[in-house]
Amino acid sequence: MDTLKVNISHVYNHVSQAEVNTLLPEVLAARKHLVAGDAAGNDFLGWVNLPEETDAAMLSKLKADVARMAGKGRLMVVIGIGGSYLGARMVIEALQSEFASMLRGPHPYIVYAGHTLSEDYYSQLIELLDREDYTACVISKSGTTTEPAVAFRLVKAHMEQKYGADEAAKRIIAITDAQRGALHGIAEKEGYPMYVIPDNVGGRFSVLTPVGLLPIAMAGYDIDRLLEGARDMRRICLGNNTLEDNPALMYAAVRNALYRRGVKVEMLVSCQPNLRYLAEWWKQLYGESEGKEHKGLLPHSISITTDLHSMGQYVQQGERLMMETMVRVEKPDTEVRVPNDEQNLDGLNYLACRRLTEINDCAAQGTIEAHVDGGVPVVELSVSMIDEYTIGQLIYFFEFACGVSGYTLGVNPFDQPGVEAYKKNMFRLLGKPGF
Ligand code: PA5
Repeated sequence: MDTLKVNISHVYNHVSQAEVNTLLPEVLAARKHLVAGDAAGNDFLGWVNLPEETDAAMLSKLKADVARMAGKGRLMVVIGIGGSYLGARMVIEALQSEFASMLRGPHPYIVYAGHTLSEDYYSQLIELLDREDYTACVISKSGTTTEPAVAFRLVKAHMEQKYGADEAAKRIIAITDAQRGALHGIAEKEGYPMYVIPDNVGGRFSVLTPVGLLPIAMAGYDIDRLLEGARDMRRICLGNNTLEDNPALMYAAVRNALYRRGVKVEMLVSCQPNLRYLAEWWKQLYGESEGKEHKGLLPHSISITTDLHSMGQYVQQGERLMMETMVRVEKPDTEVRVPNDEQNLDGLNYLACRRLTEINDCAAQGTIEAHVDGGVPVVELSVSMIDEYTIGQLIYFFEFACGVSGYTLGVNPFDQPGVEAYKKNMFRLLGKPGF
């Protein structure tokens, strides 16, 4: 089994190995809370055993629905926000071609809605839906979140006008609470196939439920391998008791050690543009889980080398308040070499015939050295390659480390009371009854 690795050797100018090791009892205690379910947020721990407990009958039904829907159009609109969309988007964008929207692949192309209220966005989406045959998957645990509810109203109306109400009902799948919420009521009334988001799994921990699995399978990716990667990582997270052989405990320990030393910002750095939604998903996971009681590392992200030409200056010489967590992929699945050019007018022949990965790796290594010299501690996470299995590992690793890290920080990692504040103001401004 190729396993994700954590290397903390580039943090020792900020915290010593011994200092990180002193957190072992705390992260073990935090893990115990996750397993025993005896601390704050214990009614939202369903994700801990999810990879082992995924219902086989639900998976078969999901695959059958995906096959039926795939025959109905080249496009699926996935409607959701936050935890109800970022996980699926992270996996799909990591696995698909950067140019998938221009390629006629064998599987439906996924477009997203419900994550914005931009009028221009929806007018452009409707223009696209006028032209293409499509299906939709609407995802909302509460069933009442304004952004996806508005988007669903638009898409449902468009679909019913385009195909008629009966056919529209066959083109929509709903993923929501087992009993409650407006979406549940609509899905029941219209007879949409419905999937349940378990009560004990919060949005940002829900990618391995139908919330993520359905859109990922629709885009043509192997959800069994995704779950297998998560299962293998779960065994490591739950079974290994030292920092050296448990990457999640190590990551939780080192980021808490650095936080206690005054680090305020953690930047997730990736060397592959197709991991940008890994960063978006990770930001929600860590930001919503830890950013409370005026505590927590602020999650931020950059992509290299792209952002070294925009954010690089700040990281190198701006305020010293950040750490970096660099996600490295050892083997890309393609090979591109720099062409030889006899004239060498651009002076690049020293790179001729070398793989872009070699150049990218040197850029990453050079970045680590420069940032460490500039006073930024760097944690390295390496995966052998990007496929469903390694993404499954990454998902479980980040989720488990997040639970451990949040308890170690001393907050409830499984609530998000702060998210309500903007909603109350928005409802008042919109004149919603009762606000
Ligand atoms: O993690 C969370 O709980 C949130 O980001 C939610 O996923 C997000 O607000 C969407 O909520 P819902 O699925 O109820 O529409």
